[in-house]
Parts: sequence; structure tokens; C-alpha cells
Amino acid sequence: MSTGSLLAADLVIAVLATAGWLGGGAASAARRRRLTLGFAAVALLATLARAVTIVALARAGWWFAAEKVVVAAPLSLAALLVAGVRLLRPPADIRSAAVALLFAGYAGSGALLVTLLHGYPVSPGAALLAVAGVAAATTVSWRVLGPRPSPVVSRAAVGVAVAALVTGTGLAAAPDAVREVPHEHEYRDTGAVGEPTRRFTLTAGTATVRVSGRDVAAWAFDGQVPGPELTADVGDVLEVTLRNRDIARGVTLHWHGYDVPNGQDGVPGVTQEAVPPGQEFVYRFRADQAGTYWYHTHAVSDVGVRMGLYGVLVVRPAPVTGVDVTVPVHTLAGLTLPQPRTEQVEAGVPVRLRLINTDSTTHRYALAGTAFRVAAIDGSDLRGPTPAVETAVLIPAGGRYDLVFTAPATPVALFVDGRAVWSTGPVSTATGSWPVLDPLGYGAGAPAPWARFDREFTVVLDRGLDLRGLLPRYAHTVNGAAAPDIPAQVVRLGDIVKFTVVNRSLVVHPWHLHGHHVLVLARNGAPATGSPLWWDSFDVRPGDVWEVAFRADNPGAWANHCHNLPHADAGMMLHLMYR
Ligand code: C2O
Ligand code: CU
Repeated sequence: MSTGSLLAADLVIAVLATAGWLGGGAASAARRRRLTLGFAAVALLATLARAVTIVALARAGWWFAAEKVVVAAPLSLAALLVAGVRLLRPPADIRSAAVALLFAGYAGSGALLVTLLHGYPVSPGAALLAVAGVAAATTVSWRVLGPRPSPVVSRAAVGVAVAALVTGTGLAAAPDAVREVPHEHEYRDTGAVGEPTRRFTLTAGTATVRVSGRDVAAWAFDGQVPGPELTADVGDVLEVTLRNRDIARGVTLHWHGYDVPNGQDGVPGVTQEAVPPGQEFVYRFRADQAGTYWYHTHAVSDVGVRMGLYGVLVVRPAPVTGVDVTVPVHTLAGLTLPQPRTEQVEAGVPVRLRLINTDSTTHRYALAGTAFRVAAIDGSDLRGPTPAVETAVLIPAGGRYDLVFTAPATPVALFVDGRAVWSTGPVSTATGSWPVLDPLGYGAGAPAPWARFDREFTVVLDRGLDLRGLLPRYAHTVNGAAAPDIPAQVVRLGDIVKFTVVNRSLVVHPWHLHGHHVLVLARNGAPATGSPLWWDSFDVRPGDVWEVAFRADNPGAWANHCHNLPHADAGMMLHLMYR
């Protein structure tokens, strides 16, 4: 069983156990003997099953099990001792078991809340608050249902509740260790890049665009979605003037995957101010990496990108022969872009398909009618790519794959999630059952460039209650905190840095570091054996543990975030800073 399924199974079992105890408590209070015993049996089985899931999760990694071992396990044990033992010989009047069963239910609820609202790392404050809640709720039930506890017991319970509440609140509210959140009022300068050799102007504005015969309200560059395709040759100096006509919430340009100098990175509040309506900003950088990239606004990026403020950036090495097609996939108002296209390609002509996922979730691409090779991922060429046939690829949010093949005499079609988007003629192949290519074993391996790391960071992805803002929110968290309260990762120029990225949530998080490409070292303990993979976007699925590394060679303050942009907006964003 994968760790992701274990996480889900453990949650379901925990809910069953809690519901069983609470249901049993209610049934016994109503003197429904058979119902009580039924509920209690479910709870008992579920509680025992949890021992298995918690141990399995702990073996997969302490991050997945920490609060379950420290908080849920002792509370479940207490539930078993108090309620389970009471029911070994059910009392004649089943109602007298009600308080014990309810106690077990409160214990389960407390542990569940700790997992759902706080998670990793274990917080003594959250644990004590849970204990206080259990003690208080049990005392109240006891008073209501009787038999009245002796004054000593009653006072002890109240004492436990109050002490746990006071300590828990104190610990939960204590100021955390020093947090370094970037707050640069002086943004970095452009730096000298030489005379521009390619100039572009992009004007952002609200627009109505036509998709599949429907008029759709959008935010667009130059009135079109996607925005104009920017192309350059290696060695060009690009100058891109961004104008904002009427996007009230501001606009910037971020060159996704292009490791530009920090001042050109387009992150509002970190590398520049967002450009307000009527203003402009000029970006300049040298194009020295060839490959497939894209640009998008980083101001209210969740809304801005979804509404259409994105486009393709392709940097070509010297002259290109053959057919070169970009396929930027996007969902605009529920409609899929690009619109399907058919192109005549003569047999024998080399074809490069540049697949780009500009959405916030993974897409599945399948190329039918030909064998192909994956020439590059995230703009970096792969080493020794081998031919693949009837194989799909999964591209994470923000990611790019370049597929190459020689056009056969028969038609070829590219399917995205089962829909043909580009073809050379009619193809009717069902691609849904094709296996998915695993890039971690694809192509020719090479020895790792680094044997030691100067700095290591662990990034644990989860959900949790965030009470620091104006309104409480159920945030997407990193190491138990949500933006802007996640401590920055601080590195020195020249450091070799390792990230361990762990997903203990139930959804995929496409991770994206700005300004650097990371080298994939391992996934779930298995080293990457194929071509070196230099990525800027990678899907961390539920239960996944990724190890990646990079050289800190691009000074500045950089965003490091989940590229499911609603997640980033809901807290999953931190910063990498150079000391
Ligand atoms: Cu494509 Cu910070 O994003
Ligand atoms: Cu995410």
C-alpha cells in the first residue's frame, strides 16, 4: 500500500473509531443495548486497526506519524482501557457505560482535530488543548448523565481540564523562534546585460476572448489568451516592456523556469512592486539557456493566471530544422485551450512538440501513431533519451516536456486528458490505458555531481488551521505554518543545498523553486537512476518524499512555493534568501 493510501485509510479508520465510540455513547444513554454493543464493536475494531496504520506510517517516515504516535495513540489507548474494558462484561443497565463510551469518543475527536487542524510538527500546545477538551467534555457528560462522580473525581477532572487549557493556550500562543520573512524595500537592480537584441511589449488588460464558439471574460496580454509567444535565440538579450492597462489588482511578469537575475523575477513584494493600471515595468535579461519556458503574472497569481495572463517563452539554440510546435494547455472558464489543430507534416520531417502545463493541476499527455523520445523536461535536455511507444506522460502544474519524433507516413495525434489537441491527420486510438513514463528511470544515468551538502532543509506539506491572520483560515501549510509566517530558508552563495519535500496531505503539491533548477536525487527512498533531471516543477503526491539539490548560484530573495496557485494563495509559499 502506498503511503498516500495509508494516510487516507488511517483517516477513515480514525473517523470510524470516533463515530463508533460517540454513537455507542449516545445509544447507551438512550438505553439501546444492542445498538450500543454494535457501535462499540465497530469502534473497537477500528481502534485496533489503527495500530496497524500508525505503525506503517511511522515506518514510512516520522513526518507522517508524529502526532498520531504522540497524541492519537495514547488517547486511543485510554479509550480502550476506559470504554473497551467497561464493555468486556456489559453492565445490566447499559446506560451506566455511557460516560465511558463518550469519553472514548471525545478522546478520538481530540486526536482527530490535532491531526486535521495542526498536524506536523507535533505541538505540545495542541496536544494539551486536546486533553483539556476531552477532560471538560467528559466532566460535563458525567454531570448530565450521572451517576454523579465523587467530589474528588469531579475536582480532579476540572483541574486537569484547566491546567491543560492554560498550558496548552500558553504554548500555542508562544512566539515562535525568529522568523526571517523577506521584506526588501530596496529591490535588486537589473544589472548590466548589454544592448537588447529582442524587444517586446506586452499590455495586460481585461478582454473578451472567443473559445470554442463562446465569449469568455478574461485577463489577457495584448487581448489574447495565451499572450503572444516570445521567442529568442540563445545569446539574445531580451527586453520586455510590461504595461498594465486596467488590471486593478496589478500585474507582473514571472519567467517560469528561466533563472533570471533576481530583480527580473517578477514577484510582487519580493523582487518588485506589482505594476498598477497605467504604469509599466521593463524586464531585461540575457537568454543563455535554450528550452521551453513560459511567463505569467505573479500578482494575485491564483486569479491572474487562471484568467489568462500567461504565454510561452521559447529560447532556441541556433537554427531549428523541422516542425516546432508549442502546446500550452490551459483551462479558461472551464474550456480547454489550445483549440485542436491539424497540421500537414511530410514523412521524414523531425518534429518537436513543446508541451506546457499552465494549469494548477497535473495533465496527462499521450502521443499516438509514433514512437517518440522525451528530449527535454523543464527546459533541460535529457541524457540519452530512449524511444517510447504507447506511453503517456504526466506533466505537473507549471512543468514542460519536449517530445521529439520523425514524422511517419501515417497520422500522429497528441491527446491531452483524452482530447486530441494537435494532429497530422485523423487518429482514433484509445490512450487511456497506456502506462505512464517514469522520468526517474528514463535515459542514461550519470554520477551525482555532489557528495555532500552545505545545508539541508525539510519541507513538510500539509493543511492546518491558521489563526495568525485577520480571519482564521484552513491553510495549506509548510512545516505547520502558512505564509507569511513560514521561516525563510537562508543560504550562502556557493552552497550546495538539499531539500527533502514531504507530502503528508491528501492532495498533490507541484513544487516550484524560483531562480534555480533542482537536481532530482531520490523519490520515496529510491535514487533517480536515469538521465540527470534538472527541474523547476515537480509533483509531490500524497505520501511522497522527494530529495532534490541545487547549487545556490543566483543571489537574491526567491519564492519557493506550491504551483497549485490556489494552494500558494492559501499559505503554501516561502522564500529562499541569500545571507
Ligand atoms: Cu510559475 Cu512562482 O511561479
Ligand atoms: Cu499545493
